[in-house]
Order: sequence, then structure tokens, then C-alpha cells
Amino acid sequence: MYTTLKAVTGKAEELNYTVGAFNTHNLEMLPDMIRAAKDQGAPIIIQTSVDTAKYIGHENLVAVCEVMATKELVDVVLHLDHARNFDDIKEAIDKGYTSVMYDGSQLPFKENIMKTAAVVEYAHAHGVSVEGELGTIGGTEEGIHVAEHDKIYTEPKDAVDFVKATGVDALAIAIGTNHGQYKSKTKVNIELLKKINAAVNTPLVIHGGTGVKEEDIRELIDNGIRKFNVGTELLVTWTKTAQETFGASKVNQSLRYNIIPCNEAVKEAVKHKIELFMNKESHTNL
Ligand code: 13P
Repeated sequence: MYTTLKAVTGKAEELNYTVGAFNTHNLEMLPDMIRAAKDQGAPIIIQTSVDTAKYIGHENLVAVCEVMATKELVDVVLHLDHARNFDDIKEAIDKGYTSVMYDGSQLPFKENIMKTAAVVEYAHAHGVSVEGELGTIGGTEEGIHVAEHDKIYTEPKDAVDFVKATGVDALAIAIGTNHGQYKSKTKVNIELLKKINAAVNTPLVIHGGTGVKEEDIRELIDNGIRKFNVGTELLVTWTKTAQETFGASKVNQSLRYNIIPCNEAVKEAVKHKIELFMNKESHTNL
């Protein structure tokens, strides 16, 4: 079913697992990402940046997600990642995305609340879910560096006030992860996560999943992480495979021979992550 963030995270909360949210960068890798979820009997969130949505075309992304969700019997959410502009959010909603993130984390607290609440009002009127963000997550976002001194952890008390005032369906929190960290792993602040999770009922979101140690994943899930973002790992996997295949192929060979191995490598990476994200005991009940 082509569905919303609220629906898939609600079920994840009930059965104590987390839903993988994977960034796609082109139309090529997308079907195999959804097939990976199907193979695992799990829901999937496909997310794009604003620029990727414009590059591929919102309606093209919606069409693939909707058709595959229906034909392959997978729960698929199409989510706009890190939008900072109301017009971009409105465009995604109007063209059929089922979930959006308004990232007001760089704004003063009150302004973040006001602007997020306005997005929630529009999105909810259209049956679309909203993720907000509090605190700043370091690293690179689409190649743009977020300075280390700008990093601010999420305060549990602010999280309570923020979810109450905005009505967001999910909250991205800053607990030590960084975007784009593919060469090393981060130290997540589990104690802070526990405090935030004890204070708010809203599903929590981890960004910068590429840099999270796999052995930390279970503890993150047990403490309320219901959406788990992974982007760079797939991007690096696709690109490295493409460098090998394109580098070794003849120029008049069908592109299929070069691109299928890239998509298959991404599919395996998504399957592996979903395996870690599901709650094994409840898996069979899905
Ligand atoms: P990574 O690219 O570091 O996995 O982070 C993805 C993400 O959080 C997208 O918002």
C-alpha cells in the first residue's frame, strides 16, 4: 500500500521495530530498493531531497512508488527529506508525496515551532505526515558541510514543548549522529535518547544512519527510534559499483550491463539494513 509515515511508524511502535528510510538519488536504484523491502516483508520509506525530487520529477517518483506498492504488496512511503522552504513542501504534497520533513533546526526555537506548525496544518489537511527537527545534526547534507561548532544536541524539555506546539508526526533528534559519515562510525548519546524518549510519545527519527554502528541499532530501536535514515551508504555503494562497471565496459554495450550490478548492490545493502531494523519475534506477524 502507498501509505504515510504516521501509519508505518505507528505499526513499528506497536511491534518495536524501526522503519528504514532510504535516500534515492536516481530513478535507476529505486525499484530495487522497494524490492529489498518486499523480500524482507517490511515497510519502506523512500526519501528524496528537494533537488533530487526536481531532478527526477515529483510525479515520476510518486508513480513508481505508488505502482510498486500496489503491485508488489509493500507498504511504501514517499518522503521529502530536509525541506526548508514552504513552497517546496507544498509542491511535494500537491504532487503526491505522503510525508514531508520541515527542517527548521537552524532557526530560533520559536520560529522553528511557528513554521513547522504551519507545515503541519497544510500537510494534515492533505492527509500527509510531517517530520520536524530539533537540534542540529552535523556532517554534510548533500555535500554542504554543517560546522562542528553549530552542532546542538536536542534538549528533552524542548522536545516536549516542540511536539506539543507543532503536532508533528515524527521528530528528528540530534544525539551525536552526522550526515555523510561513511569512513568512520559515531558515538551516539543513548542516555540523551532515553531522556527524550521518556519525555515524548512521538516517534523519533535518527539521521546520519550510515555513521551508526550496527551494534547500536537494537538499543536505538528499544528507545523509540521508529524511522532510521540511511543515505550515503547507498550512494557510495552505487557509485563505487558504477566506477567498476563503467570503467570496464565497452562504450556501445547496453547500459543495463553497467547499471544492474549497481542496483543489485544497493538492494543487498537495503536488505541488510532492514534485517537489523526489524524485530525478529514480531517479523512473522507483519
Ligand atoms: P546518511 O547519508 O549519513 O546515511 O544520512 C541520511 C540522512 O539522515 C538523510 O536525511
